[in-house]
Amino acid sequence: MNTFAQDILEGLRRNPKRLPSKYFYDETGDRLFQQIMHLPEYYLTRCETEILETHKDALLQSMQGNAFDLIELGAGDGLKTKILLQHFWAQGADFRYAPADISPHVLQLLETGVRALLPDLEIISRQGDYFVNPAAVLPPGERRKLVLFLGSNIGNYTQPGASELLRRIAAQLRPGDLLLIGFDLKKKPSVVLAAYNDAAGVTRDFNLNLLRRINRELGGNFDLNAFEHWPTYNPQTGDCKSYLLSRGAQTVELKAIGEAIHFNEWDAVQTELSRKYDLNDIENVATEAGFRIREHYLDARRYFADSLWERL
Ligand code: AVJ
Repeated sequence: MNTFAQDILEGLRRNPKRLPSKYFYDETGDRLFQQIMHLPEYYLTRCETEILETHKDALLQSMQGNAFDLIELGAGDGLKTKILLQHFWAQGADFRYAPADISPHVLQLLETGVRALLPDLEIISRQGDYFVNPAAVLPPGERRKLVLFLGSNIGNYTQPGASELLRRIAAQLRPGDLLLIGFDLKKKPSVVLAAYNDAAGVTRDFNLNLLRRINRELGGNFDLNAFEHWPTYNPQTGDCKSYLLSRGAQTVELKAIGEAIHFNEWDAVQTELSRKYDLNDIENVATEAGFRIREHYLDARRYFADSLWERL
């Protein structure tokens, strides 16, 4: 059994059930997430674009004219990163771009897109799960590092999970190396919920696509109409969790691995955590992982923060 099959089976056998959100990103999932980034309700991408546009020069100055590697974890299609790449290149900075992502498909899209824009920029892309092995997705060499971890990707981790990931990243850096990390901030709950429950239903499709992927890769017979997309937000913890709810009692078979899973009526499968932070939460997690906060860059509405950290 491959890791995908093992992880899916383990998650569905649990009580309560859950599925790892990293498996959203097959080709269809990549395309749906690209659509999500353009939805009117999904403010995160626009906020971060504003922040990067406003502070791209300050970010370049933070490298103090040194040659460096610009590493990006969970780069996706690089929609926002292109702002930095173009500015750094136009300013004559000496840097290489090293994007990593779990999706080989989106990495290919990214490389093609960046090459079209900046044909002479050196790109070292790596496919992989940066949580499992951050060392394997970093470029070799002794240059100074600026690591980008944008888009609120950190929100997919629980508090202990985020601390563990950040400590693993810190272990790959040297004192003075920098990490720019995007946090979606706690805000009016209706604004958060709308971002995960858009009127056009793209986020619902994105969530349900995980079942479609299981059907395809594990010979499953999930009926997508038998599950309901259900996002929730807890304003105290900042946990925004998405579920798939079983509309009735049903048994789903996974033929390729000879397994079956039973769902009771309204059984809930957690498919994603998109955790929201306040500045206090950010300071705690930074300190715990061995970083010092240099700067919090916020958008005008204070919806989102790109926080610049220095490895101690
Ligand atoms: C790519 C993990 C940042 O959690 O907001 C978007 C994924 N899920 N809509 C997020 C997502 C539902 C997104 N991240």
